[in-house]
Amino acid sequence: MIRLGVNIDHVATLRNARGGNHPDPLTVAKSLVGSGMDGITIHLREDRRHIRDADAEAICAWAGKPVNFEMAATTEMVAIATRLKPHGCCIVPEKRAEITTEGGLDVLNHRGELRPAIARLKDAGIRVSLFVDPEPDQIHAAAEVGAQVVELHTGAYANGKLGELDRLTEGAALTAHVGLECHAGHGLTFANVTPIAALPEVTELNIGHYLIGEALLIGLPAAIAEMKRLMIEARAR
Ligand code: PXP
Repeated sequence: MIRLGVNIDHVATLRNARGGNHPDPLTVAKSLVGSGMDGITIHLREDRRHIRDADAEAICAWAGKPVNFEMAATTEMVAIATRLKPHGCCIVPEKRAEITTEGGLDVLNHRGELRPAIARLKDAGIRVSLFVDPEPDQIHAAAEVGAQVVELHTGAYANGKLGELDRLTEGAALTAHVGLECHAGHGLTFANVTPIAALPEVTELNIGHYLIGEALLIGLPAAIAEMKRLMIEARAR
C-alpha cells in the first residue's frame, strides 16, 4: 500500500490573506476523512506564514489522521513538536526568503546539530523523517544520524530536470537498503505522480499545493480521491 499525506498549509495561506478564521485548516482536515487522505501534513515555518501555532496545536490534538509535522531543526520547533507529539516530524531546511522548501536538507554537513534534535523527537515517541535530495551521501547520513524515514525531494523531477527520475529510483532503493522507510514529495501533480508512486520502496507521498489548486476546479475531496486513484493504479502496474 502507498499512503497519501495531504499538506494543508495553503488552506492557512488563504485564511491569512484576509486575517480572519476562514477557511479553518482543522475544519478542512476533518472534512477530508474518507476522501483517500491517509495523513495530514502541516509545516509550521519559523515566520508562521501559513500554519500558526494554534493550528498545529488543534490539528495535533484532533489526531483524526496521523499528523506529519514539517519543521526546521531549531530548538523552538523541537520544543513545540515534543509538546504536541504528532505521529511524525519531517525535518526540512528553511530559509526565510524562499517561497517553498527549495532543496533538501544537508544532513551530511549538519550531523552534529541533527543528531540531538532527532534523539529528542524519538524520545518523545515521534517518528523522524529527513527531507533530502536523492543523493547517496545524504541518504547514508540520514541513517547515520538516527532518522527512521527519508523523504525524497521530488521538486527537481517535477520541474522536468533530466535524469532526476533515475536519481529518485536509485535513491528510493538505497533508502530501503540502509533500512529506512522511503517517502517522497514536492511539486507532484496528476500528470507526474505515476512514476514516483510506482517506485516499490515508496510508502508515502506528501502533496499539497497542486491539490489545493485543483480543489478550485473539482473540489478538494475529489482532487484527493483522484490523486489516490493514480497512486494505487501506479502500484498495481
Ligand atoms: N514534502 C515536504 C517536505 C514539503 O516541504 C512540501 C512543501 O511544503 C511538500 C512535501 C509538498 O509539496 P507541494 O506543496 O509542492 O505538493
